[in-house]
Order: sequence, then structure tokens, then C-alpha cells
Amino acid sequence: MANIKAVRGTRDLLPTETALWNHVEATARAVFARYGFGEIRTPVFEVTELFARGVGEDTDIVSKEMYTWDDRGRAESDRGQSLTLRPENTAGVVRAYIEHKMAESGMLEKLFYIGPQFRRERPQRGRYRQFWQIGAEVLGPPWSGSDSPLRDAEVLEMLATLLNELGIKGWRLALNSVGSAEDRKRYSAALREALQPVKTKLSEDNQRRADTNPLRVLDSKDPGDQAIINNLPKISEFWGEDSRAHFEQVKAALDACGVPYVEDHRLVRGLDYYTRTTFEFTVSDGSGLGTQNALLGGGRYDGLSEMLGGPKAPGIGFAIGEDRLILTLQAQAKEAEQKKLDAFVAPMGVPQNPAALKLAQELRAAGFEIEVGDGSFRLKKSFEAADKLARKMIIVGEDEVASGQFTVKDFAKGEQAKIPREELAGALKS
Ligand code: HAM
Repeated sequence: MANIKAVRGTRDLLPTETALWNHVEATARAVFARYGFGEIRTPVFEVTELFARGVGEDTDIVSKEMYTWDDRGRAESDRGQSLTLRPENTAGVVRAYIEHKMAESGMLEKLFYIGPQFRRERPQRGRYRQFWQIGAEVLGPPWSGSDSPLRDAEVLEMLATLLNELGIKGWRLALNSVGSAEDRKRYSAALREALQPVKTKLSEDNQRRADTNPLRVLDSKDPGDQAIINNLPKISEFWGEDSRAHFEQVKAALDACGVPYVEDHRLVRGLDYYTRTTFEFTVSDGSGLGTQNALLGGGRYDGLSEMLGGPKAPGIGFAIGEDRLILTLQAQAKEAEQKKLDAFVAPMGVPQNPAALKLAQELRAAGFEIEVGDGSFRLKKSFEAADKLARKMIIVGEDEVASGQFTVKDFAKGEQAKIPREELAGALKS
């Protein structure tokens, strides 16, 4: 009989990996606590209408990626109810916020969550059908300060702190504002108009988006579409005075906290609820994820609570792709492990030890990372140690010391050459 395997796009996490997952989650919990967040756990399935209304019918997520079924409950009241595995958790958190009348406290709510989400995407490295998000939402009535630009900057500064504490290297924060709901509406209309005459030149997916959700055209990575996209109007031309001022204040607070960012006017993100600040963090160094796969994304929203039948409650939130965060940590750890010293200086006999140490001293002073062996090592042992630790090996024998010409072995190239002492520094750089 054929073995039963995990469903495509899902995977098991075994003890060799879960230790790192637990470390990431514990670090996130500790950081969130310092910023005053409390945990919320919402169900993994909800009524389908929540996502249709909350995330938007025309988004890729709702139109083609959700796991939806008609429930077969026994009770008449449940039967035929359309249910969906959550593809994201902002809609669920806002539903809970409304259901539990959290607005009545008049306070700002700061909620975080950690849990699985489900999207029927084409599986690849860093993209799964069941994946984990570590996310948070900050929301409340306007008089709680929920639409203050300070909140956006606080959330972004917290994310920078979390990534740094986890030891993620080379992260990049891309920042934009999609304007108020009004600005966005005017911009969508302008885009639709600008796209009409060039629509047929776009890729198939974008031809559809040009009508249904023109902002999403900006997200396209299709190389054939780029020239057209670069000539489209920019969202910043449609910002009202309030949106512009809001964005300026977010940036000023980030500058004050020393959080680096890059403005990216094409960053509109794929969910319908965003207004004003939108952002994504990517990693360029050794994550192996490719540039299309953001480590995390988020933004500000206004109107989502009302769309779900609740009171006015603007907010801002984010979700980290935990699978991607873990892959990045693993890839970067491997890279660090593989990082080698510039050279291993190997004296060929005990009498050469002082000369070897002196050579190491000079090269270290010139900024190179050097290890020195010992003259009592057999040649084979020196070779093994050097190959493990360094990119190159410099042999210091009796002849070398006398002639000032050193044998340098390059392990990657498998080459060996005699190099005069004064040229060693240049040789180590190559
Ligand atoms: P999102 O950009 O759809 O936003 O997802 C956030 C992050 O989840 C992505 O940046 C990525 O790291 C991860 N992710 C998404 N899909 C997959 C997948 N198939 N496999 C692995 N990782 C994935 C949201 O979900 C919003 N709810 C974020 C938010 C919160 N905005 C405001 N509040």
C-alpha cells in the first residue's frame, strides 16, 4: 500500500527544528511584552464572509487561495454554512475586537498572535499552504490615539528591535503611504484610466487587475510590465494634506529612533484594507528566499472595523512569515559557519615558530584574520587544520624564511604559488 504523506504545501517540524521555532517565539513574546502587547488567540476557521468583507473579494487571497467548504453540521442552523481556514489574521482579530466590545474601554488595544494560516499558493521555498505568522494589531477608537503616526513608528521600531535581537542580518525596511481611503479611491480611478490605453500590452494577470484592482498592478514582478508601470502616476501625487503630514511624522519618528528605511512608492500590498502607511521587511543577505518573498508585511487600516459592522477603530498591524524568518536564520547561521579566516600560517618546524608568529602579527596588523599553527605539527595536520579554518595557507619553512618568498596555497582554486613577503597582503585579498 502506498504511504500516506503530508499534503503538498504542508510540512512536519521535527525536534531538530522546533527548538529554533520556540526560541523565535519566546524572543517575540519577550519583545512584545516590553511594548505593552497582550496575546490574542482566535479560531483557525471563521465564516467565509469575514474574509470576503475584511480582506476584499478582488484580492488574490480571497478570489483564489482560500480553503473554503460548506459545513455539514447536524443542527439546521450550521448546515450549509460556508467556512474558511483563515488565510490571515487581521480580519479575525478585528472581528474579535468588535465581538468582545473592546472599544468600550476607550483604550488603545495592543494585541499579538502566533499561529498557522492557510493559503492555496504554489508551494516553493518559503511559500507554503499552511504557514505560520507572528503578528500584531494596534487599534482603538480615534480618541485613544490609534491613528497617530507615532504608533506606526513604534510598531516599525519594535520590528527592527525584534529582528536585531534575533540576529537577522541585512534586513531592509521598505515604506510607503497609500493615502487615506479617499486618496486611494482617486488614485485607483487615475490608475484605471492610465491603464486603459496600454492594458493589452500587460501580462494576462495584470490585464484582469487593471479593471478589478488596479493598485495591484504596481505589485507586478513581470519584467514585461515594468516599463509601463514606471510611467504610471504615483500615489504620492494623490496624497491629501493629512496623509502627507502623517507620512512625514512617521518618517521623522523613525529618523529620531535611528531606524533605517527606504521609500518605495510602489508598495501598495495585496490586501484591500490598507490606508496610509504600508511596509515590508525583506532580507538580502543569504536568506535564499528571493526578493519577491517578504519576511513580513503590514500597514495601517481605517474602515475595516466598520466594514465588519463595528465602531470606528483605525489601527496598524503586521504579520511576520515565521517560516521565512526561520529559513533566514538557518541560512545566515550556515553562512557564518562557513565563513573562513583569510589565512593559516603554518611553520614547518619548531625553529620557524617565531618567524611564523611575526608574519601573523604583521598580517593581523594589516587587518587580516589569521590563525597560526605550530612547528611540531606534521605537514598533514597543518593542511587539515588550515583547510578547515582558512581560505589560504602560508607555509613558513627554513627556505621561506631565508628567501622571503612564501608558498601560499589557495584551497578554493587548488593552486599553490611562491609569493614575496611584501606581496602577501595583495595575495590574501584576491
Ligand atoms: P501578508 O503580506 O499577506 O499580510 O502576509 C504577511 C507575511 O506572511 C508575508 O510577508 C510572508 O512573510 C508571510 N506569508 C504570506 N503568505 C505565505 C505563504 N504562503 N507561505 C509562507 N509565508 C507566507 C498579512 O497577512 C496581513 N494580515 C498583515 C497585517 C496585519 N496587516 C495589518 N495587520
